[in-house]
Amino acid sequence: MTVILKLGGSVITEKDRPKTLDGETLASLAAAIGDAEVDDLVVVHGGGSFGHHHAAEHGVSTTAGIRDVDGVMDVHGAMTTLNRFVLSRLHTEDVPAVPVHPLSAAARDADGELTLMTDQVATMLEEGFVPVLHGDGVVHAGEGVTVLSGDELVTALATALDAERVGLCSTVPGVLDGDDEVIPAIESFDEVADVLGVSDATDVTGGMAAKVRELLGLGSPASVFGPESLEGFLAGDDVGTRIG
Ligand code: IPE
Repeated sequence: MTVILKLGGSVITEKDRPKTLDGETLASLAAAIGDAEVDDLVVVHGGGSFGHHHAAEHGVSTTAGIRDVDGVMDVHGAMTTLNRFVLSRLHTEDVPAVPVHPLSAAARDADGELTLMTDQVATMLEEGFVPVLHGDGVVHAGEGVTVLSGDELVTALATALDAERVGLCSTVPGVLDGDDEVIPAIESFDEVADVLGVSDATDVTGGMAAKVRELLGLGSPASVFGPESLEGFLAGDDVGTRIG
């Protein structure tokens, strides 16, 4: 059973402070992953304060690209630094985590359509590893390099690997309604369009609304939940908001 888990950038970093890790939360999430009994787990992490500030600084988004190699390396370098931290916390918990850097494994065509190499991810799983991907830059025909969000990676991986479950570990306990209550299930975007605003902190990939839209397009059930529910999610429980 393949499970795709995204650790939101705002969960594992201090999103309002550039390049600052939330080490305590990351360590507790790594411990939950270390304790879980999931056969085939793929981890994806977001950028938080390692990705979005750099992307905003260089004027790069998911649609507007840059060709300046220093800018590209700045965004990619910040993300690989964060990836090292994530890997290291997972290794502390004896999780056989190995990195996959999307800048070297994906491309967008001129229409923005993503192609992601996943043969290596599948073989890593077969060989007992836990692949760890991250939001990154991606070469984009006609644009140079644009931003590739962790959520897009989750979608591409879930489809390519025929994932059974998808989990998005977020700073909130689920998708919240106007009264800040967790919405237990979402089946269409229209149901929730009004209550989903954009994220407060700098977020070049669009906050919760974009996440919900992306997840509704999946063939596999997805859940959005807070860090306290990761253990339950990995144990197969219904936690947070179920989408799709
Ligand atoms: C962003 O990834 C990656 C970059 C800005 C380079 P995500 O969009 O998945 O990150 P979070 O989870 O929202 O922080």
